[in-house]
Amino acid sequence: MPQIKLTQLAECSGCGAKIGPEELSLILQKIPKNLDKKILVDGGSDDAGVIKINKNLALAQTVDFFPPIVDDPYYFGQIAAANALSDIYAMGGKPLSVLNLICFPSKLDLKILRKILNGGLKKIKEANAYLLGGHSIKDREPKYGLAVTGLIDPKRIILKSGAKIGDKIILTKPLGTGIVATAIKKGIVPKKLLNKALKLMTTLNKTASELMLKFPVNACTDITGFGLLGHCLEVAQKSKVLIKIESEKVPILPKIKELLESGFYPQGGLNNLAYLKGKIKENKISQDLYKILADPQTSGGLLIFLKEPFASSLIKILKAKQIKSALIGEAMPLNNNYFLEIL
Ligand code: CO
Ligand code: CO
Ligand code: CO
Repeated sequence: MPQIKLTQLAECSGCGAKIGPEELSLILQKIPKNLDKKILVDGGSDDAGVIKINKNLALAQTVDFFPPIVDDPYYFGQIAAANALSDIYAMGGKPLSVLNLICFPSKLDLKILRKILNGGLKKIKEANAYLLGGHSIKDREPKYGLAVTGLIDPKRIILKSGAKIGDKIILTKPLGTGIVATAIKKGIVPKKLLNKALKLMTTLNKTASELMLKFPVNACTDITGFGLLGHCLEVAQKSKVLIKIESEKVPILPKIKELLESGFYPQGGLNNLAYLKGKIKENKISQDLYKILADPQTSGGLLIFLKEPFASSLIKILKAKQIKSALIGEAMPLNNNYFLEIL
């Protein structure tokens, strides 16, 4: 059997396949909101929706699925599952149960599907969650992901809207996976870089989330399709603060600049750049760096907002657990013209 390249079957890969933020908000505006008191968080405006069960317990629910971002089905399954679970971790919740979501071409070997599902299961187990079932449909393009239900303390839900003036900002994974994924589609990623990106995208945000909960965290989200800048802008707008990013402190995968120079940049990144245009104050950072900061991530890291001295302590324990995190910026009083500034 000839080796099937999964990414060749996908039009856009990973979280880059998301519908753009502008288009999406146009559609969602027209859908009436349910304002029942039990609904503590509307998932349309945060990483997961949260519904109260009683005063000590709430459910957090989210769903994520996308076309192959890598060619290896076992890795694709792991990445898609890690990415779906991440929204629960970003809220400060614990995954409880999951359902598989599968789209699969009828002409493809079912062994590939088995490998995808086994990859997903590996991450579901690592998250200590229970797989309760799923649903599959035939589709031209394979897609995989999870619907996830998590448990969360209703008194300790970490939102995008909670960032406070003076908060330091921590990012828990380096950027660049969207650019790597674009080069993978063309089949020219150096083995060492590919392995690094695979390791990064299959790493659950579980440990990072558990560690952040030891501190008085004000806000958190996970970096996915809208890139670091898009997700920062969202937090800044919802929290009504100005976010300053110190670009030279942002961790980036090695060799990303070289891939960019060879012309690899995802369509999702171009969409992000178009959306961000005019919304950011830039202080003469290079065009390449700006592109990396807007690169859509798949199964990206957590973006955590908290005050000092907690931020420095959190960084220390994250690093002790081999989580490549960095302090990348600060939340400041709102400026009339911008929510986001890159230094
Ligand atoms: Co998210
Ligand atoms: Co999501
Ligand atoms: Co069904």
